Amino acid sequence: MIKTAIPAARDRYDRVTIAFHWLTALAVLALFCTPLLWNNAPRSWGLRYLEGVHVSLGIALAVVLVARLAWRVLAGRKLGGTGSRFNDIASHVVHGVLYLLLVAQVGLGFGLRWLQGEEFSFFGLFSIPSVLSPDRATAHTLENLHNIVGWAIIYVAAAHAAAALYHRYVLKDGVLGRMAPAR
Ligand code: HEM
Ligand code: HEM
Repeated sequence: MIKTAIPAARDRYDRVTIAFHWLTALAVLALFCTPLLWNNAPRSWGLRYLEGVHVSLGIALAVVLVARLAWRVLAGRKLGGTGSRFNDIASHVVHGVLYLLLVAQVGLGFGLRWLQGEEFSFFGLFSIPSVLSPDRATAHTLENLHNIVGWAIIYVAAAHAAAALYHRYVLKDGVLGRMAPAR
């Protein structure tokens, strides 16, 4: 069991893993908030352009996710458990579920955009060509699934963040510290 809040360097994730983790978390938060705003704010606010921001951030998340998974498999530091067998199994399951949900969400996002037959631009800098013929009905089904998976990510990530805070403030071990950005 790690006893200090900020463990020694060898007991922490490497800088690249930490950077990918927090970039993913920020992107997911922004990707979740943008539809909440464009769907719920009064029309007069003119927030529909946020859909373009959402798609651009989605492209960025796809790149970060692929790079993150490649880094994890090829070079990222793998850390041992937290000292409790139950915690170790639970955290592996939750992390695996988060990766699966994120990959599924990116796939659904790309799929629904292609099926909508609409422009797929990255902040106006370049466009991704469509590889599917437009199909409104299937796009609508994927959109519903995308909505469900989006909420699932938020619930699982919130439980995951609560577990990290429980380690920090109740168990008072170094599990949160090993993913914290270096000072
Ligand atoms: C973790 C990442 C993501 C989350 C949490 C998320 C969440 C959401 C949510 C909650 C909606 C609203 C759905 C509805 O109103 O029924 C939405 C819409 C949408 N998302 Fe995502 N999304 C993510 C990633 C992506 C990605 C990677 C793409 C594709 C590049 C994408 C493309 C879209 C599109 C095109 C819509 C609009 C559908 C429409 O109203 O026409 N999303 N997203
Ligand atoms: C949408 C938000 C988030 C997502 C998608 C996410 C995802 C993940 C994933 C997939 C891992 C596993 C890393 C690996 O072994 O490859 C992880 C680890 C970790 N995350 Fe998050 N995370 C999010 C937010 C947070 C927040 C807000 C906190 C802190 C309050 C946090 C704290 C941690 C810690 C401490 C670890 C390392 C756990 C360990 O070493 O056993 N995460 N996260």
